[in-house]
Order: sequence, then structure tokens, then C-alpha cells
Amino acid sequence: MKKIQAVGLFLAVLILVPLAATAQNKFVGTKSCFMCHQTEKQGKQKDIWLKTAHAGAYKTLTTAKADEIAKAKGISGPAVAAKECLECHTTVADAKLLDKGFDVKDGVQCETCHGAGSAYRNMTIMKSHEKSVAAGMREFKDAAATEAFCKTCHNSKSPTYKEFKFKESWEKIKHMVPKAG
Ligand code: HEC
Ligand code: HEC
Ligand code: HEC
Ligand code: HEC
Repeated sequence: MKKIQAVGLFLAVLILVPLAATAQNKFVGTKSCFMCHQTEKQGKQKDIWLKTAHAGAYKTLTTAKADEIAKAKGISGPAVAAKECLECHTTVADAKLLDKGFDVKDGVQCETCHGAGSAYRNMTIMKSHEKSVAAGMREFKDAAATEAFCKTCHNSKSPTYKEFKFKESWEKIKHMVPKAG
């Protein structure tokens, strides 16, 4: 009996260790992604994202309007310091997981959606979809899965919620790599 438990424990350790390793990926910040994702050929993700509301989502929390909304919800102190607001307007993560290049002021940034990038941002890994996903990049299986992901923030818990129309919204933020040819 004891022996079986010990084997079970050993297997559990084998399985859990790799999971723990991906859980430790760090958020490296937008500059690290910009490096490779800014050219015409790559699809200009940098410029496109900078023009979206997502890039300014932290700044929005520094406005008087945001403070009023927070106050109405019974939050004491500024909106920009409230976890209840930051959780959708930025990436909220343990400080240990934030690399020095990460800046919370970048709002809803590349890694907020794509996942902490320290392990997948390397060229060899990035060129392979499978390897990127294995290294912690979030996978968007199909349009329905992408829409469900958007709605983790675009929902009625947002104090200023407007009905979320996925297709229209995606058109406003899409940043695909141009197809060759
Ligand atoms: C060293 C260069 C480099 C860096 C740094 C880099 N990428 Fe990439 N990335 C690439 C290349 C090359 C591809 C493949 C693009 C293609 O299909 O032509 C890619 C593809 C991707 C894809 C599509 C992956 C897929 O298979 O669906 C995403 C999403 C992505 N990168 C996000 C990021 C994010 C977020 C960061 C910052 C954390 C980042 N990248 C940093 C080079 C890089
Ligand atoms: C981490 C939370 C979060 C996720 C995930 C998210 N958004 Fe947003 N989005 C926001 C916030 C916060 C704003 C408001 C930013 C502001 O105005 O300061 C916003 C604003 C927008 C806007 C501009 C406002 C509008 O309705 O025209 C569009 C478009 C948008 N998001 C599309 C999307 C799409 C498409 C997805 C999924 C691919 C998505 N968002 C995922 C948080 C998120
Ligand atoms: C609001 C969420 C969100 C943000 C912010 C965001 N992305 Fe994306 N990104 C997506 C989604 C969703 C897709 C589509 C995935 C798919 O359909 O394959 C995508 C696709 C991509 C692709 C792959 C395009 C292709 O042709 O396969 C790259 C590269 C990429 N993003 C890089 C970035 C970079 C770099 C940033 C920051 C400058 C960024 N993304 C910010 C959600 C986001
Ligand atoms: C569940 C996610 C979520 C939470 C929590 C959240 N927001 Fe937002 N916020 C959004 C999204 C998404 C938008 C884009 C418009 C919309 O659909 O509400 C937004 C937009 C805004 C805007 C711009 C609205 C406009 O029309 O000008 C302000 C201001 C704002 N939020 C303040 C706050 C404050 C203050 C808090 C905390 C009390 C907060 N938000 C909490 C998701 C969220």
C-alpha cells in the first residue's frame, strides 16, 4: 500500500513539475514584442495596437470620470489603485512574475491576451505555433473561443458596459500577419 502511494506521488511530481514551470513564465512587456512585430511584412502589430483603446486602458483609470465611477461603486481611493478596476484595464499578476520591461501603464497589452511571453518570445519557438503554445502562448482555437475570451472583460461587470459585438470589435483591433503572395 505504502509503495503504491509512493509511486503515485512520484508520478504526480513528474506531471506537476512541467505545469509549474509554465506557470512561472514572466510578463516581459510590450517593447520585447515590438522588436519583432512592427514591420509591414510582420503585420505592424505595434502600430495597430498603439491606436486601439486597449493601449490607453490604464490611462482611462487616471481620469476624473474613472474616479467618479469607482466612488459610486463604494471604492475608497483613486480608480487607478483599485484592483476591481485594474483587473480588466491592465494585467494583474504576482509581482514576481513581472519582468523589468513590463509596464502596467501599457494597459491591455500584448501579453494580457497572448499570455506571459518569457518562454515563447524566442525566434525559433515563435516560428512554430505548437512550440509557442507549449511555451505558454494562449491558443485561440476558433472565433467562438476568441469571442469567449474577449468577454472575460467585455461583460456586464464593466461599470460602463456596452453590448459587445464581437465581429465589429474584432475589426477594430485585428492585427494579423499578412498572408504571403
Ligand atoms: C525574436 C522575434 C520575436 C519576438 C521577440 C516576439 N515574436 Fe511573436 N512571432 C515572431 C515570428 C517570426 C512569428 C511567426 C510569424 C509568422 O507567421 O510569420 C511570431 C508569431 C507570433 C504570434 C502568432 C503565433 C501563432 O502561431 O498563432 C503571436 C500571437 C505572437 N508572435 C505574439 C508575440 C508576443 C505577445 C510577443 C512578446 C511577448 C512576441 N510575439 C515576441 C517573432 C517574435
Ligand atoms: C483584459 C481585459 C480585456 C480583454 C481580454 C479584451 N478587452 Fe477590449 N477593452 C478592454 C478595456 C478595459 C477597454 C476600454 C479601454 C478604454 O477605453 O480605456 C476595451 C476596449 C475595447 C474596444 C474599444 C471600445 C469599443 O467597444 O469600441 C474594442 C474594439 C475592444 N476592446 C475589442 C476587444 C476584442 C475584439 C477582444 C478580444 C479579442 C477584447 N477587446 C479583449 C479590456 C479587454
Ligand atoms: C485584446 C487582446 C489582444 C491584444 C491586446 C493583442 N492581441 Fe495579438 N491577437 C489577439 C487575437 C484574438 C488574435 C487572433 C488569433 C487567431 O485568430 O489566430 C491575435 C493575433 C496575433 C498575431 C498572429 C496573427 C496571425 O496572422 O496569425 C500576432 C503576431 C499578434 N497577435 C501579436 C500581438 C502583439 C505583438 C500585440 C501587442 C503589440 C498583440 N498581439 C496584442 C488578441 C490580442
Ligand atoms: C469586467 C471588466 C471591467 C472592469 C472590472 C472594469 N472595467 Fe472599465 N471598461 C471595461 C471595458 C470592456 C470597457 C470598454 C467599454 C465597455 O464595454 O464598458 C471599459 C471602459 C471604461 C471607461 C471608459 C468608458 C467611456 O465610455 O468613456 C472607464 C472610465 C472605465 N472603464 C472605468 C472603470 C473603473 C473606474 C472601474 C473600476 C470601478 C472599471 N472600469 C472596471 C472593462 C472593465
